[in-house]
Amino acid sequence: MKYGSFVAHPFATVCLILAASTESRPFDSIIESFHIFSEQSPLRDYIMGSPEEQVSTGVIISDVIGKTQNIAIFSGLTRDIDAVSERLHDAAQNATVLAPDNSVMRSLKRKPWEDAEDYNTLGASAYEGSSGEDRARGNLERFVQRHIVPESPWEEGKKVKTLSGNEIWWETKDGQKKIQPRNIEVTSIADKVSNGEIWIVGGSLA
Ligand SMILES: *[C@@H]1O[C@H](CO)[C@@H](O)[C@H](O)[C@H]1NC(C)=O
Repeated sequence: MKYGSFVAHPFATVCLILAASTESRPFDSIIESFHIFSEQSPLRDYIMGSPEEQVSTGVIISDVIGKTQNIAIFSGLTRDIDAVSERLHDAAQNATVLAPDNSVMRSLKRKPWEDAEDYNTLGASAYEGSSGEDRARGNLERFVQRHIVPESPWEEGKKVKTLSGNEIWWETKDGQKKIQPRNIEVTSIADKVSNGEIWIVGGSLA
């Protein structure tokens, strides 16, 4: 029943979750109840050490990305996009995930599956019907892929193409890492694991 439809229509589920999350706060407390090891948890620090210092061996990005509460919306999307979730599950391929925090995801000008161009060419029904759903899914995939750098460690100043093909690099300004060319702040490093790192960013790269 409910679980079956959840599996059959993950895209619809994401739409619902995001729609709810942009509108209302209770989403936070629901998410919170699932995240025992939230970012600020002393227990987590005790078990895993400070993520800034230590690489957890044997643990990979897909193991930890769901555990940081303030990127829960973005991490949910990474699990829904097959091309991305497979990549983050692959212990042999490193990645640097640039995860916008929940407040960034809530304040996007458009939903991550929307593209202004689609509305220009197709009008208000751009995402209706099965071709509309495919279009939305493609846009959502591109949105998530723009936040995944297919290498780690990623050196300062090194220009790389994200999984979606846009070129970015980072530099330090006043002691703060900034993703260029958009000058998006890296607010913290949530995790360093054997196949890469998760950086929390204060803006969208889409
Ligand atoms: C992958 O990341 C690990 C952990 O940082 C690092 O030791 C290893 O050299 C990286 N591998 C490649 C191919 O970059």
